[in-house]
Amino acid sequence: MKLAVVGSAGYAGGELLRLLLQHPEVRECVATSRSQGGKPIADSHPALATVTDARFSNATPGEAARGCDVVFLCLEHGESSAVAAEVFRAGPGMVVDLAADFRVRDPRLYQQYYGAHAAPELLGRFTYGLADVLGTKLRGATAIAAPGCFATAAQLALYPLARAGLDVSPSLFAVTGSSGAGAQPKPTTHHPARAHNLFAYSPLGHRHQAEVLQGWRQWIGRPDASARLITHSGPFVRGIYLTLHAHIPDECAISGGEPGRTAGEWFRDAYKDRPFVRVLDQPPELTHAVATNYALVHAVESAEGREVQVTVAIDNLVKGAGGQAIQAMNLALGINECSGLRGGGVFPC
Ligand SMILES: NC(=O)c1ccc[n+]([C@@H]2O[C@H](COP(=O)([O-])OP(=O)(O)OC[C@H]3O[C@@H](n4cnc5c(N)ncnc54)[C@H](OP(=O)(O)O)[C@@H]3O)[C@@H](O)[C@H]2O)c1
Repeated sequence: MKLAVVGSAGYAGGELLRLLLQHPEVRECVATSRSQGGKPIADSHPALATVTDARFSNATPGEAARGCDVVFLCLEHGESSAVAAEVFRAGPGMVVDLAADFRVRDPRLYQQYYGAHAAPELLGRFTYGLADVLGTKLRGATAIAAPGCFATAAQLALYPLARAGLDVSPSLFAVTGSSGAGAQPKPTTHHPARAHNLFAYSPLGHRHQAEVLQGWRQWIGRPDASARLITHSGPFVRGIYLTLHAHIPDECAISGGEPGRTAGEWFRDAYKDRPFVRVLDQPPELTHAVATNYALVHAVESAEGREVQVTVAIDNLVKGAGGQAIQAMNLALGINECSGLRGGGVFPC
């Protein structure tokens, strides 16, 4: 396959390049950069120096897309909407967008969290690529909106609850590492402000809330269903650690004694054929997911069956960005879902 990664000097682009350069189906991969065009890729992504001595291309998104089987867009929010029409006109086989531009189908929900959409006419072309839930339903998709990192962890916690018919209003407390904010330095990613520190941000209004509501409401089948994402910045570089808690109404109380009626069994059943979700017997540790495409998940109910707690650990740049985007591409093309993604982690890290 011939691929292009547009906006590839950033963290999401770098992670995609790391994985695609080792993907068995990839013959050629063009990496474009507005800021770094002509410079060695390894100048921006030093860890790739051992696998490529190629340089970033100056090609525009449309030029890069021409003749490609798949184009990945790794641009800042709003930029994908600006270039998508040009990219589609170039006629690539598939477009995978890693930004939030095409993730939310309902324009009113999008407006609430992001403001007016710049290319609403293109929204209908995109399939939301939550690979671990959709699996082979992604087959044939030609434009994929890769889910956000928090939204991926949240929805992997929510999906089995919806599948079990648990119409509850969960709270999802999540902590992200500093790489979630991208390569451009910001006051909140500066080492002295971030190391040994923990703080909430976007209280009651993180943008990924829109995707979380979209998935939860669709699965529960109730347009006013609620699920609250509560976001924090943590003192680590990679990863998202998320804990869901919900009170369970009497009529839905979980009976741990009955076969098929424990939270752990719901999760094992929901993900039994999914290669990248591991349901554990105890809560995961974040570092065990780092640098992998795996989601590590644990679910348990309280002794009286009136509360459920679910914990999810993922790598924000792999499962939450480049890895899931490649998994969705593999599924859409009908090639082995795990191609290029089987690598283990790097503990201790
Ligand atoms: N970080 C995550 O955990 C994560 C997870 C899921 C989705 N995403 C999404 O992916 C998209 C890209 O996010 P990101 O985290 O990769 O952001 P980033 O590191 O800030 O990169 C964003 C853009 O910055 C540009 N850039 C300009 N000057 C640069 C420089 N000196 N060094 C590096 N990059 C430079 C790059 O474009 P050029 O190469 O064209 O200059 C790149 O496309 C966003 O829409 C984000 O929401 C991010």
